[in-house]
Amino acid sequence: MAHDTFLDPDALLRDALARVSATNDPETLRAIDREFLQKGGVVASMLASIPTLPPEQRKSTGQRANQIKAALEAALLEKKRALEDAALDGGATGAPFDATLPAARTERGSLHPITQVTRELEDLFTSMGYVVLDGPEVERDWYNFEALNIPKDHPARDSQDTFYVAGRGDLVLRTHTSPCQVRAMETMKPPFRAIVPGKVFRQETTDASHEHTFHQMEGLVVGKDISVGHLIGAMKTLLRGVFGREIEVRLRPGFFPFVEPGFELDAKCPFCKSGCSVCKQSTWIELLPCGMVHPNVLRSGGIDPEEWSGFAFGLGLSRLVMLRAKIDDVRHLLSGDLRFLEQF
Ligand code: DAH
Repeated sequence: MAHDTFLDPDALLRDALARVSATNDPETLRAIDREFLQKGGVVASMLASIPTLPPEQRKSTGQRANQIKAALEAALLEKKRALEDAALDGGATGAPFDATLPAARTERGSLHPITQVTRELEDLFTSMGYVVLDGPEVERDWYNFEALNIPKDHPARDSQDTFYVAGRGDLVLRTHTSPCQVRAMETMKPPFRAIVPGKVFRQETTDASHEHTFHQMEGLVVGKDISVGHLIGAMKTLLRGVFGREIEVRLRPGFFPFVEPGFELDAKCPFCKSGCSVCKQSTWIELLPCGMVHPNVLRSGGIDPEEWSGFAFGLGLSRLVMLRAKIDDVRHLLSGDLRFLEQF
């Protein structure tokens, strides 16, 4: 709004006060405030005009500007308070503010159980000198199979129902975290210890115990004279960390092309003494496959098997979470269902 500040400051003030008194809208009050009191507003231009006025008008113009400012500030403040009071009494909606009502409930998030276990294990293994590595989920055939001693026509490929990337015969969604064994060997000089938690994918018909996407954690230790004894020691430490106490283990032979010898490690059922539904009445739980790294795999990773040896393990994180929290259907894990997730 253009104002002729020099002609009639009194009319301007009357007009502004009338507008303040007529409105109940906070935004209108802010607009009046801007128009008169802020930078570039009426009062400011009155003050700015003083040097251009005849000397006898200067003093009175300055006083007038300050009177307008004070009067308008007071009126705006009074109206603002009145509006706030009205709002507490119910304002336009007529519903008075009730200070005794309980506050709106704020939703609280939590970490996914897989993330929780992953972090626990990362803490445990880093405390034992392991580094935590990461690898690509879209993996080259070479790392997922070939370098792990699984050639093209090898029957072990059938047991890992692979998602291939369309039009790219050399790329797969990794079926396990084991390809990171070879990637680790390529980037680190022995001796070293590493774990690689991550997502893996298999083309499976899903049911309570099969999911197309799940989580594993690969472990790899390469050093001088590494033996099965070291492997068992590391696995016992792992179980102590996960279940909070000493757990008996046993090894059965298991076949995996990338380890020799290969084992299935069983843990004494942490939930019973004489058989329960978790251990299917056997008192043992098949926990993780593992073994001594095959010399061909060391060679794939550029490590001399005459000089170095190692062990590897493939922990099923999804399975471990299910075991620990007694979850009966793997499909809950990645369902995104809040009723499930809220329990963690
Ligand atoms: N990568 C295998 C799988 O997903 C599991 C495995 C077996 C990992 C033996 C290992 C190992 O590191 O030594 O079926």
